[in-house]
Amino acid sequence: MCGIVGYIGNKDAYPIILKGLKRLEYRGYDSAGIAIINGKLNIYKKRGKVSELEDYILGMDKKGTIGIGHTRWATHGEPNDRNAHPHHSQNRIFTIIHNGIIENYTHLKHSLKEQGYEFYSETDTEVLANLIEYIYTSQKVTAEIAVRLALLKVVGAYGLVVLCSEEPDKIIAARKSSPLVIGIGDNEYFLASDATPIIEYTDRVIYLNNDDIAIIKKEEMVLKNLKNDILQPNIEKIDLCISEIEKNGFDHFMLKEIFEQPRSIQDTFRGRISQEMNEIRLGGLYSVNDQLVHAKRIILIACGTSWHAALVGEYLFEDIARIPVEVEYASEFRYRNPLIGKEDVVIAISQSGETADTLAAIQLAKESGALVLGICNVVGSSISRETDAGVYTHAGPEIGVASTKAFTAQVTVLTMMAFMIGKEKGLVSDERMAILIKELYDIPSKIEQILKLNDEFKKIAGIYKHVTNALYLGRGVSFPVALEGALKLKEISYIHAEGYPAAEMKHGPIALIDENMPVIFIATKDKSYDKILSNIQEVKARNGAVIAIVTEGDDIISKMADHTIEIPEADEVLISLLAAVPLQLIAYHIAVMRGCNVDQPRNLAKSVTVE
Ligand code: AGP
Repeated sequence: MCGIVGYIGNKDAYPIILKGLKRLEYRGYDSAGIAIINGKLNIYKKRGKVSELEDYILGMDKKGTIGIGHTRWATHGEPNDRNAHPHHSQNRIFTIIHNGIIENYTHLKHSLKEQGYEFYSETDTEVLANLIEYIYTSQKVTAEIAVRLALLKVVGAYGLVVLCSEEPDKIIAARKSSPLVIGIGDNEYFLASDATPIIEYTDRVIYLNNDDIAIIKKEEMVLKNLKNDILQPNIEKIDLCISEIEKNGFDHFMLKEIFEQPRSIQDTFRGRISQEMNEIRLGGLYSVNDQLVHAKRIILIACGTSWHAALVGEYLFEDIARIPVEVEYASEFRYRNPLIGKEDVVIAISQSGETADTLAAIQLAKESGALVLGICNVVGSSISRETDAGVYTHAGPEIGVASTKAFTAQVTVLTMMAFMIGKEKGLVSDERMAILIKELYDIPSKIEQILKLNDEFKKIAGIYKHVTNALYLGRGVSFPVALEGALKLKEISYIHAEGYPAAEMKHGPIALIDENMPVIFIATKDKSYDKILSNIQEVKARNGAVIAIVTEGDDIISKMADHTIEIPEADEVLISLLAAVPLQLIAYHIAVMRGCNVDQPRNLAKSVTVE
């Protein structure tokens, strides 16, 4: 939810931290702050974006080679200067930045007040800063020990970075449930919530695990756990390149990521489908293959767009692998005392791999003894570590808050899983498998064809940019795509939109239809095509405006709809990969025309790591 950056080395810390915060702003952007230690401690923080902080700091003392920075998405305390991070302890001995939630902060705050501590903010983070200071001064221990003892009293989640003005030669970092990555340079170390601010300096990283504490000086880093055991760091090599995290000439990250989908889908199936062998191989699932193939039920848990991908997964697993599926909002699943059997397979789907509700649902599923798998886009993310096995989508960093390429990559993985299981169960013939593999190979070029219609989508957006409501309708595997199209429009243009099964329109939503209500149909050629023709006629009979996504060459709907968007023909199970793209672009253009902040929509953040 928040972005954390730190640097210790021989270079000026400020420019490194500032640039890192800008790369992480997608994680939260309601306030920002920087602390730099150079003999004395300078803290600058305020409400607003990183660029506003940069203007605020102009001309101030920011020299120093050790520093930390934070960009916030408020959880405790409204976005304002006082609640912005970094937070210092009462006597300014400790300065900390924190991503996560200290669940027992009110209890800790009460105890500290009894010791004479006063607080200037409403945050849980300030409580932690004072707790560390209280232990440090009352028990006369080192900063490292004070941090460790304080964390032993904490209930909750943290990605934490600490400076101590009395031990100014080090940075202390710790992690529980909120991600923290350490980049290893030559006599310098970089810290960040994920690898994007680090990759331009080094490709050697350590992903901190839960209960890890790192004590970092310029020339060395010591890794321990909360029990004070010294740990051997697991140094990994990241293969991201800087261009992947920059806009590369696109106006927005979201537009770049929509146009990346031919490549991201290709990268997701690359090395996993083989025409020669006519097989699908998902290495991450080898160890659990039998349990997956013999699953009595699959439970898909996710949030937001990932939940829409899960709904597509339900159609695929039931239709192709003939396994009963339940799709659950993670936030609901975790609280309703669900029945989870040992023969169930729970699959968590998450782009960020850090969504708090999905992580909590995973814990619940693990307690039941079920096999828990993950489909994530961020290597080393919490969900990828908490699950028994899984499959990474290879969509590359998704910076735009509105998820696009992650959705199509998730659907690609779910399709491969369904066919892999179906084949193992003898339900998918060699011929059917060969057709699917060929069709999957053709998807990137078909999306390229759709992307060429971008100007057409822009024209349609221009016609409907002032509407206040919109309805998205689809049947079968296109129903989740209707939901996804509606979410895209809602979250970036702030127009209210709803997705519905097309047949459900008669059970209420049809009352909404008039000339001011555009209805977007996914009406490609499939077994329910004739039914959706009737639905379109029902809308037209009530003066509704119809935008229809149709199969190339459809000359029926073009005579009925106000606008038709022709997409290439594809196997019914793959149509969601194609139909989503026009909806992403129409939402994008409407949002831009309405002057909305497409990459950082109001009230939203890229990764919802709080409940
Ligand atoms: C989708 O555009 C939204 N940004 C949001 O619904 C997102 O899909 C949801 O928060 C789940 O995130 P995750 O996939 O990282 O778990």
